[in-house]
Amino acid sequence: MAGNRTFTMIKPDAVGANNTGAIIKMIEEAGFRIVAMKMTKMSGERAGQFYAVHKERPFYADLCAYMSSGHIVPMVLEKENAVADFRTLIGATNPKEAAEGTIRSLFATSIEANAIHGSDSDENASLEAGFFFSETERF
Ligand code: CMP
Repeated sequence: MAGNRTFTMIKPDAVGANNTGAIIKMIEEAGFRIVAMKMTKMSGERAGQFYAVHKERPFYADLCAYMSSGHIVPMVLEKENAVADFRTLIGATNPKEAAEGTIRSLFATSIEANAIHGSDSDENASLEAGFFFSETERF
């Protein structure tokens, strides 16, 4: 993933509210190409592994419970400057701080149930894509 790919995941609140299609439309209209995508669920244990970096944070247990509470839609996306451009498209973690017109400003309901994830670096994009998709599925 040399700078032109990122990883995203539509979270249980947005999938549960039937906003999957609207969010994918925004992603495609912003110029991202979907390279891999599936509808799936994580166990609490898998969510704990995905968010291991937040293990010491006070919200970790709640986050793992929430992320395993319903379906998610992980995707690998391709576009020039993918990581940074995608984080602009989704907006700030806290929807109260997310810029107008961003995915989180439109669909997130709280700082935890914030509709969508976006990788914060090329390295994490690659690691996170590998968490959900095999090499064959990604290329
Ligand atoms: P994301 O940035 O995709 O990955 C880490 C997640 O932890 C974040 O989205 C939120 O869903 C959640 N999170 C971050 N900060 C908080 C917080 N202060 N309280 C509750 N959940 C949080």
